[in-house]
This record gives sequence, C-alpha cells and structure tokens, in this order.
Amino acid sequence: MNILVMGGAGFLGTHLSHRLKEKGHNVIIIDLKGKFKQIHTDLFSCYECDIRKYEEFDKIKKEQDSINVIYHLAAQTSGRISQEEPELDVDTNVKGTLNVCRFAKEKKVKKIIFTSSMATYGNYNDEILESFVQRPVSNYGISKVCGEQYIRAYNQYDMNYTIYRLFNLFGPGQNLANLKQGMASVFMTQSILSNNIKVTGSLDRYRDFIHVEDVVEALILGLSSNTDNEVYNVGSSKKVTVSQLIDSILEVNDKESSDFIIENIGSHEGDQFGSIANIDKIRKLGWYPKKDFITGLREMYEDAKKELNKE
Ligand SMILES: NC(=O)c1ccc[n+]([C@@H]2O[C@H](COP(=O)([O-])OP(=O)(O)OC[C@H]3O[C@@H](n4cnc5c(N)ncnc54)[C@H](O)[C@@H]3O)[C@@H](O)[C@H]2O)c1
Repeated sequence: MNILVMGGAGFLGTHLSHRLKEKGHNVIIIDLKGKFKQIHTDLFSCYECDIRKYEEFDKIKKEQDSINVIYHLAAQTSGRISQEEPELDVDTNVKGTLNVCRFAKEKKVKKIIFTSSMATYGNYNDEILESFVQRPVSNYGISKVCGEQYIRAYNQYDMNYTIYRLFNLFGPGQNLANLKQGMASVFMTQSILSNNIKVTGSLDRYRDFIHVEDVVEALILGLSSNTDNEVYNVGSSKKVTVSQLIDSILEVNDKESSDFIIENIGSHEGDQFGSIANIDKIRKLGWYPKKDFITGLREMYEDAKKELNKE
C-alpha cells in the first residue's frame, strides 16, 4: 500500500514508519523542516510540509499519485505548551488536522488513522472506557477533540477512519531535549544529567504508560477494515504514580534515590491528576501490551544515555 505518515519523523512516527516499511509498504513521510535527522531518508519519500499551511501540500499533491491510507500523527503534543502557546496548539492540531482532511478528500484517500489522546477525557477516577464523555481540562485535550470531530465528519466523503486515544508513551527515541512533554523522558533526562529531578505537581499523580512498540502494533491494526470508523484506547491499563515512575527510573539507572533531590516546582495549568485506560475493546482484536514496564525503561535508559553523551 502507499501510506503517508504525517509527523513521521517524530518519536512515534519514526517507529511506525520503519515498521510499515518492514511490512513492505511504500511509506511517504511529512514533517517540519529540520526534523528528518532520525529518519533513514533513503528508505522513504520525505517532504518538508507544515500542515498549518494548506499550500504546502501542493508538492505532495503533484508528485504522489495514489495514497491509500494516511496516518495523521503530526501535532503539537504537549499539554503544558498548549497552555503557554494556545495559538500554536490550535493552529497545528485544529487547523492542521482540517488541512489534512481537506488534502485527503482531494486525493480521494480511503482511510485516515488518527492519534488522539487520553487528554481528551479529562479527569476520571475509574478506568476510562471509549464511551466516556470527553471533558478535557487542557487546550491540548480540546484541540485533539476538535481533530477527532473533523476526522469523523469527513467520513461523509467516503473516507474511513480509526481513532486511537493514546495514553502515556515511553521508549527509545523519545525527545530528550523537550522537557515539557513525555513524563518518562523528562525524568530520565534529568536523572542522567543531574542529581535533581524537578516535578510539576504531586508525586501521587498517576499515568498509564505504554511502550512505543506496543503502540505501533496497535496502529498497524488500523490498516484492517474491521477497525473502520472505530475508536480505541491504547494503554497498559496499569497505574504508575509519579513517585513509582521516578523510583523505577532510578532503579534502571542504578542510582540511589537518597542521592537525588526531588523538587516540586509547582503544577501547571491543564495537568490531569490521573488517568488509566480500559483496553477491553482493543484486546478483542487480539492486541495486548507485550513490553514489560521495567524492561522497556531499561532499554530506553541505554538509548538515552548514548544519545545524551553524544551531545
Ligand atoms: N507521546 C505521547 O505520550 C502521546 C500520548 C497521546 C497522544 N499522542 C499523539 O501521538 C502523536 C505522535 O506523538 P509523538 O510522541 O511522536 O510526538 P512528536 O512530537 O515526537 O511527533 C509529532 C511530530 O509532528 C510534527 N509536527 C508538529 N507540527 C507540525 C506541523 N505544523 N506540520 C508538520 N509536522 C508537524 C513534529 O515535528 C513531530 O515530528 C501525536 O499526534 C500526539 O498528539 C502522543
């Protein structure tokens, strides 16, 4: 199949694009200028294109004849940045997603697979089902709900979709330079570079961590027609508090927690206290989380150590 991956040079996009290629697909990648360093550009057709600007799709429209499926991963991905720079968030996640839908309609693409987020749910104490009312508390959560609505509405133009609401990803390749997104990568970077871990808010907050390789396998299921026009949670369904996450990172790092200063620098707007996925629906497709949390963290640590020592 000819598959276009929007945001294909990002953390998840890189893993997904390589996996699709391994499976024999022709993969076209779109991302922002300067983002293609981690990608083997000889394996893919790569285009620098800012999804906020519709005219930037022109080149792809001309050069790529038939596109069967679009994976739309390109996004402003940080809850914190969405509060600090709301216009960037809306431009990328709302206008950008509308532009992706317009492009898909023009190119008569048969399916869009969209990565939405657990942030669309807001705070719930129970395991969250796909049927729960979405009541986001961050601008990011709101912009992702808008993205979902565009994708659903474009179904009227003979374009199927699968929406994945991803919980908290971790794994090798997560952006170590961005200290505003990715709880596991933020604490891991700090633990490697210093003896001080800065936490934004309570250590009792909790998340549902899912390894990037498991997420890729979930996204691949989107190519099959039995996932058409469905929404799936993708998480591990296991609760890990911020405090447990830090302990686990120090464990794989072979460091004593008594050597570390854990400093609460105050919470930021729009932060969710906790969320855990109910994954019964995606389990029915035969998918389940395979990578154990500590094994995954250990691999991520080895990768992060190499990456940070390079700099
Ligand atoms: N990482 C997580 O924990 C998580 C959780 C829930 C949902 N998601 C979603 O999964 C997807 C992938 O996330 P990720 O962790 O790989 O993030 P990432 O930031 O590594 O990847 C996003 C990619 O989108 C690209 N992008 C941003 N703005 C763009 C624009 N205007 N035009 C073109 N490309 C643009 C970025 O350059 C980047 O390569 C996103 O849609 C994100 O919202 C991620």
